Amino acid sequence: MTSLLEAKGLKIYYATPRGDVRAAEEVDLQVGSQEIVGLAGESGSGKSTLALGMMRLITSPGRIAGGEVLFEGTDILTIPEERFRKDYRWSKMAMVFQGSMNGFTPVFTIGAQIDEVMKIHGRDGGELAVRKLLQMVDLDDSIARRYPHELSGGQKQRAFIAMALALEPKMLFADEPTTALDVVTQVSVINLLKRLKNDMGISILFITHDLALLSEVVDTAYIMYAGRVVETGPADVVFNRPRHPYSQGLLAATPTLQSREIKGIPGFMPDLARPSDMCSFSARCQFVMDRCTVERPGLKRTDGEDVACWLY
Ligand SMILES: Nc1ncnc2c1ncn2[C@@H]1O[C@H](COP(=O)(O)OP(=O)(O)OP(=O)(O)O)[C@@H](O)[C@H]1O
Ligand SMILES: [Mg+2]
Repeated sequence: MTSLLEAKGLKIYYATPRGDVRAAEEVDLQVGSQEIVGLAGESGSGKSTLALGMMRLITSPGRIAGGEVLFEGTDILTIPEERFRKDYRWSKMAMVFQGSMNGFTPVFTIGAQIDEVMKIHGRDGGELAVRKLLQMVDLDDSIARRYPHELSGGQKQRAFIAMALALEPKMLFADEPTTALDVVTQVSVINLLKRLKNDMGISILFITHDLALLSEVVDTAYIMYAGRVVETGPADVVFNRPRHPYSQGLLAATPTLQSREIKGIPGFMPDLARPSDMCSFSARCQFVMDRCTVERPGLKRTDGEDVACWLY
């Protein structure tokens, strides 16, 4: 599969009084055309940072500290901002932000806000176009005339997805699009994303900390820990037999229908402002060996997937 989007050695740092917080460190990630890629990891592992970085939406005190982001082969980090805004952001790649349910302005109707997005980007917009977008996400026409507070959480989330689709992007970043929704509504949003992929040929980077949800929808999975990718491969491999002890812990921490018993991962993520040479997970890992505390394992291909762990 040819890549639509590819991050190569991407580094994204936030300047703080304690030094640079290395929220994304040497990240390689690929999203194929018409592929749903899942990105999982616990809170603070750098998932949103990575997505924002690929949309070129990192602002001070953050910065892209190195690496490339290729979109259809072009390094979009080298394009002047003006051109990127005109030719790429929202038109080729769009994002459903974390917490975007609350991203609508309260004083305008949903329809007016979706229409505005199209007009700002030089499209005709209009009632019919808005209605088509709402239909695409299974929302009734009447939603266009309503104000954000008149919608349920799930409806708002769908409406925001409709807005992100307004310019027919090829790539959609969906950052925790189902968090704060009930299980039934979560499933319906997941099914919507699958349909967008199949019917519209959109590629999606789906971010969540919920592995059970990811396994329902993605083709390829990336597990991120402390700013780095620690495991990646075909979704069924990563979810059915995760190899990295962190992925195993993350999976054990996910409730399933069969088992309601949840095991957490003891300990905390290391301070991202204090880079070290050892494996970032070593302090929490039950399989830790001497080598882990002196040398960081790189991603290595084992049995059809990539794992960064000295066990393999
Ligand atoms: N504006 C900022 N200034 C300083 N540090 C930041 C900033 N934004 C994020 N960070 C830090 O970068 C790291 C990664 O944060 P990020 O929001 O990308 O994580 P995440 O994986 O999306 O977490 P969550 O699951 O909670 O959404 C964290 O340590 C966070 O504290
Ligand atoms: Mg986040």
